Amino acid sequence: MSVHILDAMAREGFEQTIAIHHRASGLRAFLGVHDTVRGPAFGGIRRRGYRDEREMLLDCLRLSRAMTHKAALLDLPAGGGKIVLWDREGVDWKMAYRHIGEVVDSFGGRFYTGPDVNTGPNELGEVARATRFVTDPGEQGPSELAEATAEGVFQGIAVGLRAFFGATEWGQRTVVVQGLGAVGALVAGHLVAEGAEVIGADLDEDRAREVGARLGIRTVDAATALDVPCDVFSPNALGGLFHDLSLSRLRCQIIAGAANNQLARALVGDELFDLGILYVPDFVINSGALVRGTIFHLEGRREPVEAIGLRIGAAAAEILEAAEAEGDAPARVAVRMAERRIAAWREAARSTVRG
Ligand code: NAI
Repeated sequence: MSVHILDAMAREGFEQTIAIHHRASGLRAFLGVHDTVRGPAFGGIRRRGYRDEREMLLDCLRLSRAMTHKAALLDLPAGGGKIVLWDREGVDWKMAYRHIGEVVDSFGGRFYTGPDVNTGPNELGEVARATRFVTDPGEQGPSELAEATAEGVFQGIAVGLRAFFGATEWGQRTVVVQGLGAVGALVAGHLVAEGAEVIGADLDEDRAREVGARLGIRTVDAATALDVPCDVFSPNALGGLFHDLSLSRLRCQIIAGAANNQLARALVGDELFDLGILYVPDFVINSGALVRGTIFHLEGRREPVEAIGLRIGAAAAEILEAAEAEGDAPARVAVRMAERRIAAWREAARSTVRG
């Protein structure tokens, strides 16, 4: 592995990264702590079939930094981290997750972990046998997290409409909701309740039919969702959706949805800006579950979803206003805003130590 990665980590101020090799289970993993200057790092466990160690480490660093940015933009008393596991043959996953719990526990509360791709309630159950620093989804389980996420996305759409058209005027709006899973179906339901016209799409045709009938919305073939003329396109399926080939198909004014990492490359955000399409950054409006988990674990209370949504809406509005004032793409403005806040907190922490 190239030494330059370590140089880059030092240059960008990553707090700590550890490589995990566990002989008994066959686990290989990285745990990244990007920053804890404002509070403990929060970061889920992602399990993926990485090409090599380099790809796995870079994913860990990118994701842990993104978590710090999220927390900073939402002004949460928390920082960012991530755990990435190499999904390979021959790993005893039960034992591996238990070991991850032991590693997390050794941080003594400086790192809280939770769900991410391929790590759900069963895996977290193993982690929780070894540590209490694992996010508790609440009595109803992951559906409570989806509710918080959907509320943030709904408010993100509302903020986007106000910024673009000056008002939400739901009765005059058409929203395409791509992905009618846990989050997408709730977003669609909320929009219908406000009086918007919603067009849904899901790769899983049974799911599309079921949600479509339940909400009384029209659904289209998932392959054509991007081509449908609408005011808002809300991606709630998979990331990486927007790239050179897909941009020319878009018939929307605003993009606002929960899917992680919607922009295949950072430059795509600039291209959307040049096309006059308002992109409400995914990493801000999909942070409902993080807000909920952080407040529960650090302040000991369950924040109502409405309050979570309003907090996310306010953060998104601040970013869109700054983007308008600076004449720059919202995704870039959001990252700069987060980095400025983190730098100020780090400076304040250094002065306290010096003082
Ligand atoms: P889910 O798995 O319940 O739903 C995703 C839905 O998208 C499924 O019904 C699937 O069939 C559909 N789908 C997949 N590819 C598609 C395509 N090309 N076109 C149309 N539909 C497609 O997932 P969930 O929990 O609703 O999450 C949705 C997105 O939001 C994911 O990207 C997730 O990473 C992100 N997210 C979810 C959070 C949560 O609290 N559940 C928190 C933050 C982000």
